[in-house]
Amino acid sequence: MSRAVNDDALDVLFRKARTHRKWRAEPVTRQMLMAVYDLARWGPTTNNTTPARFVFVISKEAKERLKPHLNKGNVEQTMSAPATAIIAYDTKFYEMLDKLSPNPGAKESWSQKSPAEIAEAAFRNGSLQGAYMMIAARAVGLDCGPMSGFDNAGVDREFFAGTTIKSNFLCNLGYGDETVLRPRAGRLDFDEACRIL
Ligand SMILES: Cc1cc2nc3c(=O)[nH]c(=O)nc-3n(C[C@H](O)[C@H](O)[C@H](O)COP(=O)(O)O)c2cc1C
Repeated sequence: MSRAVNDDALDVLFRKARTHRKWRAEPVTRQMLMAVYDLARWGPTTNNTTPARFVFVISKEAKERLKPHLNKGNVEQTMSAPATAIIAYDTKFYEMLDKLSPNPGAKESWSQKSPAEIAEAAFRNGSLQGAYMMIAARAVGLDCGPMSGFDNAGVDREFFAGTTIKSNFLCNLGYGDETVLRPRAGRLDFDEACRIL
């Protein structure tokens, strides 16, 4: 039996999936957010380090804490979104490796790497996990609106003070209003972006 997903699923996940900025008034439940994480967490990361940490901002109070750190063009779309994920990563991700790694020396060996190596691994794998999260959200029927237009340092002070967690990007989640999408921009063709050697 083929393990390929069907054509409709490919549309939902990729071909017809758009970046949304206007939202229908349907809430995103806690259960939906848990379902998204439950899928996203299985995506691969270096040594199974899984450095991403997610804060799902849904309450009015928490949205107000986020608001002052958003670029002007991102305020309305974020404040009106049913949920906004802060995709972050823990620079001390290796503290969890006793649970995550089958290799008994993994925690010690990662903790001894240079700060630059640790930062690179955390950012690389945390970004991958952010992408897995968006695909998972689409897979359970949600729309996404990713954003990097915000003050990372401000969000870190507000949400991650006293921790080793750093924000990477934001992603609004909800049910998008299909009637107000921007025209779809093109993508590079295979020959422009890829080589087979
Ligand atoms: C990491 C990242 C950061 C982005 N930052 C912003 C942003 O700050 N504000 C915004 O309106 N859109 C932002 N976008 C949305 C992109 O412009 C959009 O995904 C891209 O143009 C493709 O649009 P499409 O998915 O509708 O084809 C961002 C997307 C990503 C993945």
